[in-house]
Formats: sequence, C-alpha cells, structure tokens
Amino acid sequence: MRTTLRLQLRFLLPLALVLVAAAYLTLPLVDRLTVRWFARDLDLRGDLIANALSDPLENALATGDTASVDALFERTVLDERLLALGLCPPDNRLSQPTRAFPAELDCAQAARLGEARRPLFKAATGAVHVRVQPLRSAAPQAPRLLLVHDFSFVEHRSKDTRGYLLVLIVAMGAAMALITVVVAQLSWRGWVAGARAVLRGEGLLRPLSPPPPEFAPIAVELRARLRGLEDEYRRARGPESAWNAERLRRLLATELHDQEIIVVSNREPYLHERDGDRIVVRRPASGLVTAIEPVMRACSGTWIAHGSGSADRESVDDHDRVRVPPGEEDYTLRRLWLTEDEEQGYYYGFANEGVWPLCHAAHVRPVFRESDWRRYRAVNRRFAEAVVVEARSEDPVVLMQDYHFALLPAMLRELLPRATIITFWHIPWPSPESFGICPWSQELLRGMLGSTILGFHTKHHCRNFMETVDRQLEARIEHEHDTISHEGKETLIESYPISIEWPSPEVCAAWPAAKLCRERVFARFGLRSDARLAAGVDRFDYTKGILERLHAVERMLEKYPEWTGRFGFVQIAAPTRSALEEYRAFQARIESVTERINTRFGREDYRPVHLVAEHHDQDALIELYRAADACVVTSLHDGMNLVSKEFVAARDDERGVLVLSRYAGAAREMTEALIVNPYHVEETADALQRAITMPAEEQRVRMASLRDTVREYNVYRWAGRMLSDAARVRVRERIADRVAQSREP
Ligand code: F6P
Repeated sequence: MRTTLRLQLRFLLPLALVLVAAAYLTLPLVDRLTVRWFARDLDLRGDLIANALSDPLENALATGDTASVDALFERTVLDERLLALGLCPPDNRLSQPTRAFPAELDCAQAARLGEARRPLFKAATGAVHVRVQPLRSAAPQAPRLLLVHDFSFVEHRSKDTRGYLLVLIVAMGAAMALITVVVAQLSWRGWVAGARAVLRGEGLLRPLSPPPPEFAPIAVELRARLRGLEDEYRRARGPESAWNAERLRRLLATELHDQEIIVVSNREPYLHERDGDRIVVRRPASGLVTAIEPVMRACSGTWIAHGSGSADRESVDDHDRVRVPPGEEDYTLRRLWLTEDEEQGYYYGFANEGVWPLCHAAHVRPVFRESDWRRYRAVNRRFAEAVVVEARSEDPVVLMQDYHFALLPAMLRELLPRATIITFWHIPWPSPESFGICPWSQELLRGMLGSTILGFHTKHHCRNFMETVDRQLEARIEHEHDTISHEGKETLIESYPISIEWPSPEVCAAWPAAKLCRERVFARFGLRSDARLAAGVDRFDYTKGILERLHAVERMLEKYPEWTGRFGFVQIAAPTRSALEEYRAFQARIESVTERINTRFGREDYRPVHLVAEHHDQDALIELYRAADACVVTSLHDGMNLVSKEFVAARDDERGVLVLSRYAGAAREMTEALIVNPYHVEETADALQRAITMPAEEQRVRMASLRDTVREYNVYRWAGRMLSDAARVRVRERIADRVAQSREP
C-alpha cells in the first residue's frame, strides 16, 4: 500500500509542478493578447467615427460654427465606449474638448501615443485608448480629430478570462490526477489481468464478444500500457525475497486461504519394506520424490501414490493412510493398491514402454499395446476416484505428477469441476511429429487439457506441447498468453524448472568434512591418495547416457595414459524398471562395457571403473558428491536432472566440477558447468580431462556461481510460482462465477 502511495506521489508531484508552470506562462500571454485584440478593435472604431464626422465637422469649421461642433461632439460621445472627443490644430493647442475629456491629456501627448503600438493612457478615471485621426480633406491648417475611448472594460474582461483559464487548468489537473490514481489502484489490485481479458474479448465471463476490429489498435496500445504499468509495479516492489518453506507456507495461507493440497504421483515418497522380522522405511531413487517431498512437508495435505513397498499394507490404517515422514508426520500418505495386471499394463506397459521412450529422444522405440492402454485408462480413473475420496472440499488444489497420469486431469475435472488442477510433466515433451506416432495421442492431449495449469521444465517443452495440440486438436492457442482453450476450458501452459531443497546451515554442519568423505570413498574403492575421482549417480536407465559416459572414460584413459592407475570413475546406478527387457538388456550392456574397460586399463590392484548397481541413501550420496573431483551427468535427454543440482548443493567447499549434458533441462540454468554433447565421445573425454585438472580457483568461481543459482532457484520457488499462478486463476474463476450467478434471472 505504501509503495502504491509512493508511486502515485511520484507521478502527482511532477504533474502539479507542470500545471503551476503552465498557469505562470499562459496567464500573462492571455492578458497581452486580450489588450492587443481590443486596442485593434478600438482603432477600427476610431477610423469609422472619424470618417463619419469628417464632412459635418469640416463644414462647421469652415463657417466657424463652434456651437455646431460642440453639438456634434456631444451627440457622438453618447456612444457607450467613446469617452471624449477634441480637436488638435497644427499648433497642438487642444480645442473643443468634450466634457469628460481627461484633464491630464493634451495634443502633444496624444500625438506621441498615436505612434505607439498600444496607444493607452492612464487617466484619473481609468485606462483610456487614444487615437489622433486627420480629417478627410487633410488641408495643411485643418485640425486633427482626437478620440478617447474608455479602456477600463478591457481590464475587467481580462480579469474574467484569467479566472476562467485558472479554473480550467485546475480542473484538467484534477481530472488527470484522478485518472492516475484510479488506474494505479486498479492495477495494484490485480484487476489489470481482468481488464486485459476484457480487451482480449474474453471478459471475466468467457462469452463476452471480442472488441470490434476498429478498436484493435487502441486495445493493443492499452495492453502495452498495462504491461508497462505491471512491470513498473514489479520493479517498484524490488527484488524477490528468497524462497523457503516458510514463504511457501505463507503463500498458501494468504493466497490460497490454507486450501488443502493433494499430490498425486505413481511413486510414493516412503516405502515400507520387510527386512526379516523388521520393517524398514526406504526413500526411492526418484527426482520427483526429491522435489515434491519438501514441498509437502511445508504444505501438509495428502499425497496419493501407488503403494509398492513389500510391507506397505501392514503400515497403513483402515483407510490406507499413513502419516509421514516417520517420526515427524507432517502430511498424509494415501496408498492405492494395484493388481499385478494393473501395474504391468499401466506402469510397465503404457507409461514406461510407451510414453517414456516416446517423450525421450534416446533411440528406443516405444511400444503401444491396446491392453496396456486399457489398463492405463482404468488406473487413471481409480486415482481420480481416490482424489475425490481424499478431497475435503469441492475445490481442492491438486498437483498431478508426470506421464503416468495424462488422462487423470480431464477425469478429475468431470468429478470435481471446481478443483484447481496443476499437472507437472517431469519428462521432456517431444516434437509434434514424434508424439504423433502414439495411437492415442489425441486422448492423451485431451486428458492433459483438463488441467488448470500444465507445467514443463523448459519453454522448449511448452512450445512443443502447444504445437502438438495445434496439429492434433481443435483448440484456440494464444501464444501471447501461453494458454490453450479447449472445449470451453482454458489451460495455462507454463515452464517451471524444478529443483531441490537448498540444504540449511544446520544440515550442512552435520555433513562430514569433504576431506573425510574423500578418505572414506577412496579407501572403499581402493584409490591412491593422489588419484582423481569422477562420479555418476543415476537410475539404471537408458536415457541417462551411462554407456556414452563409459565410452568417454575409456577414451580419456586412451588419450591421456598418465591417468592409468591414478583415476577412478564410480557409477552409482539404482536398479529401476528391471521387469522390462529393455532395462535388463541395458544393464547387461553396461556391465559388459565396464568389464571391458577394467580389463583393458586395470591391474591387479586397480580398476578404473566401479559400477555399483545398488540403491544408495542420501547420506551415502552426499559422501560421494563431497569426495569427487567431478560429477558427470551425460543424459541423452532429460527433463531437468536433479543429480546435477544435488552435487552442487553438497559442495559447500566450492570445489568439484560438474560435467553436464546439453540435453538435460538443467543445462539451461547451470551454464558454469562444462557443457557437453554426450554423443561426442571425444568432446566428453576432453571435458573429463579438463574437469580433473581444473585449477582450484577456476573450480571455486564456477562452483560459487552454480551454488548461487541453485540456492535461489530452489524447489520452494518452483512450487511457489505454480501455486501463485493457481491462486490468480482461482480468483479470476471465482469472480467470473459470481458475475455469472448475478446475471442469472
Ligand atoms: O524422470 C521422470 C520420473 O518420474 C522422475 O521424476 C523420477 O525420478 C523417475 O522418473 C522415477 O521413475 P520410477 O518411479 O519409474 O522409478
């Protein structure tokens, strides 16, 4: 509010100054013009009177009939404006002056005034206009006629004009100030968006017709002005404060009125696993879980996911719910059970053999089976019904995660029309041609367009999606506003680059020192103390470029043989989707290439490549990240890739180098990494060599900058931006509803 006031004053004060200056300059000008106009008027009048009097006057003077002259003069001065008359003979002695002739005025003075531009004289009775006019005969001895007009009325007129002008200037100023204040207030209250909608022809209510074409240029101009005003407002607010859990909670409380949040994902954040007699809790290897979990801890709410842990059923209550994280219990995990057939068709089949390779350009062919499609639809329907059961209001905010649920948004929209549905697509979106090969591409697109907001990691993926819709559906796409209107529903398509929770100082303080981490990891993998260590951390997935990475390691050892015996590459590969043949074959291939490199460059006591195909918990990963000289991320295609961000977050010592694939979404933000084309083995090998030989100072500069980026663009910002956008859309929709209701008869 105070900012608003400041901004308004910043505009109003200069406006007031401009108006005062205008008054100061224009009033004397108006005065001068008025005098000049009236003086010219009286000159003409004087000529007229002199002409009319010339003949009778000359006749009377010729006969010396002064009485007739007097009578003639007295009759003439009956005119309202003509004050006095007199005659000026050649000797300049005034004769025949009428009664009101100013005593202070004589012929000599009158002659001098007659030559001036403004022949005005200040008499005791007030200002007079003086004119000396020769008679028509113009004989050498003929007197000249002296006319004295009253000029005081001009002063009154001039005073009146000044008054009117002043009132006009003040009124204009007030009107401009009022318009400024009103426009500023409207924009501050977020009505600009509404006004824009009206200008777009949508109005707060969809059915409003577009503005007639003749208004289009004005609308464009006005839109630009409104945008400018918004930018000004944002600049005036200053830089955004940092995003953290507290800020996200505040946003939820203020902008979403503590509305409940429901998350839906296939993968659950905590798995209960049977380990002999014990039940242990495990965190899955999933970027999605890494990102969403801190958000849920901040927001509370319910997370609905497939219960896939071996002891999951034993750990829930009668409604299949369990509070998590264990011991802290910040939010509810609602588990949904799938039959083997369902899991096979929906998860392994359609999602991971169909959509996953379809969206990743990793040269693995997608497989589409009718039976998988049926299961996928059925499971999406089951999750939609679960959301309805968990929702405590008719308009919850639902965050749908990923490619497992492309149909769910539209299904839920039918069941809960007032819900705010935010769908986030964690994997890339391909070109329209690539996506078009899916036999059910239109159904998937229609399903996704049930969302209120549809988020991708990058603008590029958003554009691909919009083009795909453009080719496949009858929909209105507004590129300027990033929206798609389909079947009466509008979806905002926006990029929200996902991230991680930035570790707090307390968390960092609990980490073992980097030196200690290095000693432990080096001991575990039998590395010499002067060796260099590079690390890769991934799920065992063909999109991650693990094979290309191994080829680069091999080439580096070939090209720079001095590293043999002094270089170790540790690849953590968490098993994933191993029920699928493609994944099993991939794993086998990686194992054999690892074997080949180790045979080629290893010795009895030395192996250059350490492939650890096991799931690692967070502490073990932090230890590895802090021990490594380089972290290598060579995805062939990746939505974002959070390993790159976790590595940077773990390096509070500002050491270590990130080698990053240009095909990972993260490469757009993390430009201080060594960016590589993973298909280019030579280039990646050289980047590896550069990473492990990089001077400490260069490492520090690059790492410090990367850390600034990840700290600022953290996962609370990711969620915060989506939720603020959702809050804005909700307000717009609520207003539209109310207006629609008020119009109903
Ligand atoms: O990259 C897509 C994604 O859903 C990630 O968000 C997640 O890390 C990964 O796949 C998990 O795969 P899954 O749940 O099949 O193990």
